[in-house]
Amino acid sequence: MTLDQRELRDALGQFPTGVVIVTGIAANGEFVGMTMSSFNSVSLDPPLVLFSVHKNALSFVHWQSMKYYAINVLGEDQEELSNRFARAKGDKWQGLKPAKGKSGMPVIPGALVTFECEAYARYEGGDHEIFVGKVVQLHQNRHEHDHPLIFAGGRYGKLDKTAHKAPAEIGDLHGWVADLGGM
Ligand SMILES: Cc1cc2nc3c(=O)[nH]c(=O)nc-3n(C[C@H](O)[C@H](O)[C@H](O)COP(=O)(O)O)c2cc1C
Repeated sequence: MTLDQRELRDALGQFPTGVVIVTGIAANGEFVGMTMSSFNSVSLDPPLVLFSVHKNALSFVHWQSMKYYAINVLGEDQEELSNRFARAKGDKWQGLKPAKGKSGMPVIPGALVTFECEAYARYEGGDHEIFVGKVVQLHQNRHEHDHPLIFAGGRYGKLDKTAHKAPAEIGDLHGWVADLGGM
């Protein structure tokens, strides 16, 4: 069976995600940043996360050479930043005052949470490459009323704030359900 790419993309879009901007410093010293929805958790022990980058992205080679990078989870009011860092051209950092992470990488101001990572592994992934990072530092900026930006069906969205809590009594979830205190 040959898959229609458009149909596949639409089908994948039915799985909602959050939105992150991955940031770091290129070998030539320039700040690099890119909007991604392919971020996901991998392991708690050791603490590993992943994202995948299209091989045609202008910044692709920079991610391959970085020893450290930061993954910044965007809040629902940061749609403009998501669009800005999804554009291949232009100064993505104009007017932004990025904070500095532990290893000096720029960190997106106001992100809900930032995971500072050490590059851990890379895997071949078709037209993308999969990057696995080991979390070495966390910055939590989450306040009671902050919610993540959602991406689903090719559109931005917001969380339904009345969302139900996952039941605790289903069995052994191996750490898969976090208590986010009324999220
Ligand atoms: C919401 C959203 C999610 C995205 N997720 C990814 C992703 O996971 N991987 C990827 O390679 N590109 C993703 N993109 C596209 C890149 O952000 C876009 O190609 C960007 O221009 C790449 O920057 P660069 O060309 O400066 O490297 C996403 C774009 C948007 C708007």
